[in-house]
Amino acid sequence: MLTRRSVFLGSAALAWAGMARTGVSRAQPVFKVRLPVPRLVDARAQDHAVEIVARAAQHAFWPDAPVPSYGFSASYLGPTLLLRRGDDTRFTIRNELKEPTTVHWHGGIVSGAVDGGPHNSIQPGGVWRPNFKFDQPPATLWYHAHPHGATALQVYLGLAGLLLVSDDRDSERGLPHDYGVDDLPLVLQDRAFRRDGSLAYDRSPMATMMGMFGDTIIVNGVVAPFAPVPKGVVRLRLLNGSNARILRLGFDDRRVFHAIASDAGYLAAPAQLKDVVLAPGERCEILVNFADGKTCALQSLPHNVGTRSGMPMMGMMQTGPERAEPVMLFKPEAEIPVVAREMPAKLDGPGAPDTSKVAIRRDVLLQPMLGGMGMMGMMRGGGRMGLNGRSFDMNRIDFEAKLGTTEIWTVRSQMMAHPFHIHGTSFRILSIDGAPSPVHLAGLKDVVLVEDTVELLVPFNIGADKDHPFMTHCHILEHEDAGMMAQFTVV
Ligand code: C2O
Ligand code: CU
Ligand code: CU
Repeated sequence: MLTRRSVFLGSAALAWAGMARTGVSRAQPVFKVRLPVPRLVDARAQDHAVEIVARAAQHAFWPDAPVPSYGFSASYLGPTLLLRRGDDTRFTIRNELKEPTTVHWHGGIVSGAVDGGPHNSIQPGGVWRPNFKFDQPPATLWYHAHPHGATALQVYLGLAGLLLVSDDRDSERGLPHDYGVDDLPLVLQDRAFRRDGSLAYDRSPMATMMGMFGDTIIVNGVVAPFAPVPKGVVRLRLLNGSNARILRLGFDDRRVFHAIASDAGYLAAPAQLKDVVLAPGERCEILVNFADGKTCALQSLPHNVGTRSGMPMMGMMQTGPERAEPVMLFKPEAEIPVVAREMPAKLDGPGAPDTSKVAIRRDVLLQPMLGGMGMMGMMRGGGRMGLNGRSFDMNRIDFEAKLGTTEIWTVRSQMMAHPFHIHGTSFRILSIDGAPSPVHLAGLKDVVLVEDTVELLVPFNIGADKDHPFMTHCHILEHEDAGMMAQFTVV
């Protein structure tokens, strides 16, 4: 059947377009593998010294079928780092890859000198030893490779992990916090696999333009796992670690759950939801009640995010699966002790954003580099992506922000929805397409999905000089690598 989409893309791209819309489809999901929980590295328990090794490895995404991958001291992904707020930590990052890499602390309010962006390159065989602390509210952050022009493929192969900032007060908050038992990290990613089970990565211009979409969703590096959980309230720390795929997540029985934290910290109160949209880079912590003891599935749900953007055809590529697809199962077990039975009524997240002391306003436009109108213009733009009409250049500082000030940024997307990210700050969403931010996005954020226009309140409380500027970019990693990124100092 000839659809609008097939005419638009031409037949060569058809197979790819079909893939972009599918969730778990390569094989019938089996749910026989237990959810792997990344090892917890508690910095305090090891004298505040943390070592991570970036290396090539072999990893079994499917049972008993190891294939080439990358990992941080693991076959795929990395350990979950537990850091106490304000504790100085000595990091040792070794690069055992055959290519340069970096480790970026996504969501960390840490200075440009140690932020791990493209200017903190570690050569093959090299080592990087930054000492610093996370002095910011408790949150589920993450770390990932961020080398110049090669972020997408390195993250795709496995160079990412979670980083928890804690103040040891979750019992007072009434929140589950037994890591791996009633507090589960879930790194969700879509991947494409070849017939032999190895990871496939599409380097075509179409994949650069749209971002890399896989046909299979993996959780913590495996396909279709199950997790035993207590028959009570369980905390799930969700990260959309996909390169490009926007996920809408919910449960097969449409049970309600409560969001307790957005990207960079707790909300002021739990927000009741039935599903949540997560763009690449976004995190959401949720509480789910499994007291009924019923097995239930986390699903990737259909959605139309993206279709409201300027170019409907491109937006269509960003939509969800045709129908709900199971991603993993939760199996409540009576033997696992229940700690939390109720949702807390309140949390200690921030109140209404204070816009009374705004220093300046800035505009950010996310779009491909254009050489004319429409699709042809994009082709003539050489497949480069841009931010405010310029493609990223390591040797150009795009703007300067003043340390200790707060700015309002108006960010606009063109042609498709872009998840927009800023290093070195946690921002607040003032409006999304003219409307106030929904409650579950009203807390501290560092990524926001921009379909049309969002307004952000952005404080700059830590410095970055011209040798180690902060980045701001689209978190579709192919767009970032293709230049939809700018760098700025905070002085
Ligand atoms: Cu998640 Cu510039 O990065
Ligand atoms: Cu970041
Ligand atoms: Cu983008």
